[in-house]
Amino acid sequence: MSDSAYGARGNEDRSITRSNEPLTPPYPSGDPRAAGGTPFLIGEAMTGGYGRGADILNGCTVAVDKGKIAVIVGPNGAGKSTAMKAIFGMLSLREGRVVIDGEDITALSPQDRVAKGMAFVPQTQNIFTSMSVEENLEMGAFLRRDDISGTMAQVYDLFPILKEKRRQAAGELSGGQRQQVAVGRALMTQPKVLMLDEPTAGVSPIVMDELFDRIIEVARTGVTILMVEQNARQALEIADIGYVLVQGGNAHTGTGDELLADPVVRRTFLGG
Ligand SMILES: Nc1ncnc2c1ncn2[C@@H]1O[C@H](COP(=O)(O)OP(=O)(O)OP(=O)(O)O)[C@@H](O)[C@H]1O
Ligand SMILES: [Mg+2]
Repeated sequence: MSDSAYGARGNEDRSITRSNEPLTPPYPSGDPRAAGGTPFLIGEAMTGGYGRGADILNGCTVAVDKGKIAVIVGPNGAGKSTAMKAIFGMLSLREGRVVIDGEDITALSPQDRVAKGMAFVPQTQNIFTSMSVEENLEMGAFLRRDDISGTMAQVYDLFPILKEKRRQAAGELSGGQRQQVAVGRALMTQPKVLMLDEPTAGVSPIVMDELFDRIIEVARTGVTILMVEQNARQALEIADIGYVLVQGGNAHTGTGDELLADPVVRRTFLGG
């Protein structure tokens, strides 16, 4: 959290944007571009929808620096999952682009994005319930041709309960443990960017805290995290940068602390 790339955070009033317009300079202080750098991952000015349907994303931008945690929050139907799908290539954009580590990947398929270092845990159906825990982890590594045992050991270190239950069908696990399987499966690709859509959905507050701690641990190893969360307050507490999306556009952007302190954000999105 003390990275100098974020040196300007929190000390300028213009740090929080309140418009639905695409982010242009000056960038909000939590935005990686504010420090003059290029973010490791950026979905920039994304506009698009499903098939021939109306646009769901309206110029939405999300960006995150290497090893940092970005959190997307917003009301139901705001387009949070759609933004994640667009960044992962499951939705073609009408406008805007996706750049990872300086490389424009807007035209790549999801599978090719995995090869570029992206891993995505979708909001639903993110594990194979009839397969064992270990088979789920093996499936995560399907693109790899090298020895995966070291990565599997790291996943079991991160989530020890999964090692205990490795022979059990993933569908028999608790909600929190299933989410661990989903995250573990994504980590099996050794991603540079880990994208999580509501990883704490349906789990208890204690399990949520534990999962957030593990996510922080993953970020500390240099993995860039982009996460959608409905537990907005708790997620913003661990966010280096937070985005409030409304109707497919950027409503508020700032560091997690800035958004938590913003009266409008608090009243409108955090329940006071
Ligand atoms: N596969 C799809 N085809 C067509 N429209 C879709 C599809 N998925 C989502 N939508 C529409 O896109 C809009 C945004 O949905 P999205 O799932 O991105 O919202 P969200 O912010 O993730 O909401 P939630 O908090 O409920 O997960 C909604 O109006 C939804 O009905
Ligand atoms: Mg969603």
